[in-house]
Amino acid sequence: MNRFWLFGVIVLTGLWLGGCDGGPEREAVREYAAVATPDDPELAETYERSCKSCHARSGSGAPLTGDAVVWTRLIENKGMERLIEHTIHGYRGMPPMGHCMDCDVEDFGRLIGFMARGPQE
Ligand code: HEC
Repeated sequence: MNRFWLFGVIVLTGLWLGGCDGGPEREAVREYAAVATPDDPELAETYERSCKSCHARSGSGAPLTGDAVVWTRLIENKGMERLIEHTIHGYRGMPPMGHCMDCDVEDFGRLIGFMARGPQE
């Protein structure tokens, strides 16, 4: 019984965190996503020509760059390996290879790592 209760709390917390869409935190994430770019120039080039068009645009349905709450939940629930698999093969609105045909698994891992980091990190 206890375990179900704990599970409920986790789900509700998730819904609550996901539900406050118009708050100042959301605005900060949107502003960060619009300008953020990886430090490494090569990775930045890749990010800007592929992932950024969707992952920096709220309303695209893609988890936003810097939205650490959403990305942490994805990494915890699915695991990095599955996220990379979904990047390679596509997943719902996410196109196969994320429009980066010359990316390898390591690139995808680094790109996801970058997008998962919030503004303060
Ligand atoms: C054409 C738009 C588009 C591009 C370009 C794009 N994505 Fe996505 N991505 C999406 C959307 C939409 C989702 C949300 C899919 C869903 O959950 O319905 C998503 C989700 C993801 C996810 C989470 C998948 C999951 O299992 O929940 C990862 C990881 C990801 N994208 C990585 C990337 C990377 C890395 C790049 C660049 C190489 C990239 N994306 C480029 C639209 C895009």
